[in-house]
Amino acid sequence: MRSSSFAIAALAAGLLGWGVVAQNPKTNTFQIEDIPKSKNFPVPENQLVGSVLSGDWAATRRHSWALWAALTAPSQSVWNGQRVPVWETWYSVSEVYSLGPKPPKRRDRTFELARPNQAFLAHPNARNPDPVLFAFVKYNRAAAEFVWQNKYHLQSTLDALQARFEREKTPIEERSIKPFPNDAIALKPVFWLVKNPKSKQSYNGLTVLPYWDPKAPPPPGGVTPDHRTWQQCVAVDPAGKFKPGTEVQVPLNGKMVTAKTVPLTRFYAIPLRDAAEVAAVKMFARELSSAGGEQERMITDPNQLPEIGDSIVFLAMHTTTKEMDNWTFQTFYWLPEPDAPPYGHDRPASIKGVWRNYVMCNAYSMVSPREPDGGYPICFNPYLETDLGPTKAITLSGKQYGPDPMAGTRSNCMNCHNRAGYPAFDDANPFSANMGGVANDGYRPPNDPYFQKMTKVDFLWSVALHAVKDKP
Ligand code: HEC
Repeated sequence: MRSSSFAIAALAAGLLGWGVVAQNPKTNTFQIEDIPKSKNFPVPENQLVGSVLSGDWAATRRHSWALWAALTAPSQSVWNGQRVPVWETWYSVSEVYSLGPKPPKRRDRTFELARPNQAFLAHPNARNPDPVLFAFVKYNRAAAEFVWQNKYHLQSTLDALQARFEREKTPIEERSIKPFPNDAIALKPVFWLVKNPKSKQSYNGLTVLPYWDPKAPPPPGGVTPDHRTWQQCVAVDPAGKFKPGTEVQVPLNGKMVTAKTVPLTRFYAIPLRDAAEVAAVKMFARELSSAGGEQERMITDPNQLPEIGDSIVFLAMHTTTKEMDNWTFQTFYWLPEPDAPPYGHDRPASIKGVWRNYVMCNAYSMVSPREPDGGYPICFNPYLETDLGPTKAITLSGKQYGPDPMAGTRSNCMNCHNRAGYPAFDDANPFSANMGGVANDGYRPPNDPYFQKMTKVDFLWSVALHAVKDKP
């Protein structure tokens, strides 16, 4: 009964808090572990495409939930007494790209780059020379090994492909890296910092956590909505001072608001136990807060610095699998009422413990099913996409986009990932890949002129963004 022992471990970690959980570094293990092959994964493409074509959306949602159950199941790895879920054991983007095919023998949950080699430090792309807590894009083994086998972690490979396509005037639809194998999966998790109740940075022992309300009006002033504009929050109560659901007054984005308390046990929470872990989170939060809107991030209040005794809590995760040619896209995020429709009512019993606190939406097509107003399907994660729309008019690949601060709230994962190519986000190159004003503009065929001078990277933006210059 691995799952029930995991539920108990997670409960213990939450209830007893950081100080009490048994720590025995000698028994720490952190080994990459795949989700087991089963009738749920990888599912044959014709079955998934069949569900899309026949409009059986419930079937695609069952598939997304089955993935969630497998990703969040307990792995064999244990770190500081805490059982690690399967997804967390996967390769970080730094392991895949900067370190390349020879990842360090001893992997480490907290400091995946504890001993960066000199070559890596001297590397012009070494954005994370210090230890990091997590690199926030993760690959399973199949995805990582595919990148290594084809040397797609090296810009020289992508440059050579790009040069060949130019030289040979390759038809637009064929200008692509090879497709990933059907068992490849990539992830993008997001965390929030919860202050320890004794910290002066907490609010009477509580930490404010804003959440997305789809009914909330757009923020004034034409700005994009995100956690800095949201008007509703919960108050996380790590000490268990209040009965869950107690109404308290807390400051949110410059106003006092009424919020309900929630215990730490409502989240997958990782305690920060020592100065090294705190330093890692600080470094990483700083790194991510300077990243662009399209980048992975750890969201924290800039006035809240990590301290020993705090926790980082899991808020959300993007998940994409290559079971279909265009990949399956699903995203999971925390909500105070996780069982409500339209995103939480159908969560199956196979999902255990804290992982039942997260809702899910998915995008298995750029055109289907249509929204009630006839528009293209929408799926976004509020912690990652609501702030993506352009606030000023822009011109991208010769196309005009007006200001549309709410574009992120109408976006579709697949529509944007379909645009992923190399080179990307190069202002000097009008033919480089870009996010198209985040416009959700329906089906884009593989021979669309948008792709005419780039190399498609099979929907994974991270290939274009993280491939490194070859080591000397
Ligand atoms: C407007 C563009 C855009 C939208 C919409 C978008 N993404 Fe992404 N996504 C990106 C970019 C850019 C990255 C690369 C981040 C990095 O590597 O730094 C990314 C990274 C990812 C990754 C990590 C693997 C990769 O591609 O590099 C996953 C998984 C992912 N997104 C899933 C989703 C899901 C699921 C949704 C919808 C809920 C979504 N994305 C919506 C642009 C987008």
